[in-house]
Amino acid sequence: MFKDTLSRLFRKREEHIIPGKKSTAGMSASDFKRLPKHVAIIMDGNGRWAKRHRLAVSKGHRQGTENLREIIRHTDDLGIHSLSLYAFSTENWSRPKEEVDALMQLILDFFASEIDELDAKNVHILILGDKSRLPEKQRLTLVEAEERTSGNTGLHLNIAINYGGRDEIARAARILASEAANGRLDPSTITEKTIAEHLYTHGQPDVDLLIRTSGEMRLSNFLLFQCAYAEFIFPKVLWPDFSVKAYDEALSDFGGRQRRFGARI
Ligand code: IPE
Ligand code: IPE
Ligand code: MG
Repeated sequence: MFKDTLSRLFRKREEHIIPGKKSTAGMSASDFKRLPKHVAIIMDGNGRWAKRHRLAVSKGHRQGTENLREIIRHTDDLGIHSLSLYAFSTENWSRPKEEVDALMQLILDFFASEIDELDAKNVHILILGDKSRLPEKQRLTLVEAEERTSGNTGLHLNIAINYGGRDEIARAARILASEAANGRLDPSTITEKTIAEHLYTHGQPDVDLLIRTSGEMRLSNFLLFQCAYAEFIFPKVLWPDFSVKAYDEALSDFGGRQRRFGARI
């Protein structure tokens, strides 16, 4: 057990020498004044990217996963604690069946091609959202990725699939209500912390920086509770074109923000 923990810790040091993968170009941690502990990204604009290139929407989503690889690598290289990615919302089921099917296939393809490297890099994968509504294959793939990386101590990679912020809060309320009904919880002791402890992201820091690409300026039901004091950045670029350079710019912008948390500073 102890040996296993040690080997996982040492694995972190090997991250730059994964064979066959080039290292991510970009700024290093010391180049930033201050880095967020938790970055959340709403990866928006795949559909418009596809349209602009006269391609099927599924091609836009596929291109968006190419780009994703680099962003995850860079986040890991920078030593950021948590990265939350919005991949599929509870509302996205209302898209055409063809598109939903393509997105579901991409989930399988993404994990098939990335899981080895992510695990080797000591990344801890957590799925935010209700997996029970997903097709069996996808559900098993996600559970397997979570289980395989559950002991990893590096980057916390949260992937939101069939996720809704309101749904997450309702789920916390259900859990707490049943604990109270069983007499295991005194309702008068429920605090903000109690709620946070019953969200998918329990134990992780609040979101410091939320990035939404494509110029849209809304949360679309993402991490409603965790974003209470997040800084928001809305780059105009469409998600498949969001480069490591654009990411570094957003991180630098964050470093220059004055955060007050309601106090008089
Ligand atoms: C975001 O891109 C990806 C998902 C919702 C899965 P969109 O598909 O929403 O792209 P636009 O907004 O249509 O351009
Ligand atoms: C939010 O984007 C969901 C994801 C990026 C997965 P949408 O494109 O679905 O959001 P709306 O419909 O523009 O608000
Ligand atoms: Mg969109």
